[in-house]
Amino acid sequence: MTTIRSLVATDAVGLADLFASLSESDRTLIREDLHDTSAVGRLVAHPDLHWVATSDDGALVGYCAIDRLPGWSDHVGELRLVVRASGRGAGIGRSLVRTALLGALSAGVGKVVVELVAEQEPVLQMFSELGFTGEALLRDHIRDRDGRLHDLVMLAYLARDAHELLDTVGITDAIQA
Ligand SMILES: CC(C)(COP(=O)(O)OP(=O)(O)OC[C@H]1O[C@@H](n2cnc3c(N)ncnc32)[C@H](O)[C@@H]1OP(=O)(O)O)[C@@H](O)C(=O)NCCC(=O)NCCS
Repeated sequence: MTTIRSLVATDAVGLADLFASLSESDRTLIREDLHDTSAVGRLVAHPDLHWVATSDDGALVGYCAIDRLPGWSDHVGELRLVVRASGRGAGIGRSLVRTALLGALSAGVGKVVVELVAEQEPVLQMFSELGFTGEALLRDHIRDRDGRLHDLVMLAYLARDAHELLDTVGITDAIQA
């Protein structure tokens, strides 16, 4: 069984192991230089709005972060998500995003954005099903390690829309009670 919980300082080794298991193309999708061990140290030192998925043996199988943007966009969080290749297709990514969205909304984040390579159609579909909508298409915005260019899609989840939806079905008061 998989457990989703907040990242803690003692996850440094597990997180480094998870990142080390990723393919080169997966690594392109995480902004930090994962060969730099101090990057993992920085992540666990600031675990706010970071979650991990663990398997029964305690190994980390997934990671999701929502990082607030600086300055006048500090109500916006950027979501990053990765699941160990051997654990994919079992719903771990979807569960991590659900937990992260709930945590971010509770922490006052008003908007969550995620950047995806346009070819990742199943993943785009997953985020759409979770309430994200298209925000921008940036053409030839990503250059992979072979020098090929790819379009980047930015999706957004607006807390305002989520609250309107909850109002419509009449459960906002129940949550606030
Ligand atoms: C994107 C990623 C996190 C998905 O994780 P996951 O645990 O496999 O996701 P889930 O099992 O919850 O599947 C979510 C959806 O993705 C799609 N999907 C997952 N695995 C798939 C596969 N092998 N083939 C086709 N579609 C697949 C399905 O649409 C699935 O929806 P379903 O639940 O209706 O079947 C994982 O593939 C990954 O780590 N990719 C590299 C990093 C990345 O691209 N991150 C996203 C940008 S931040």
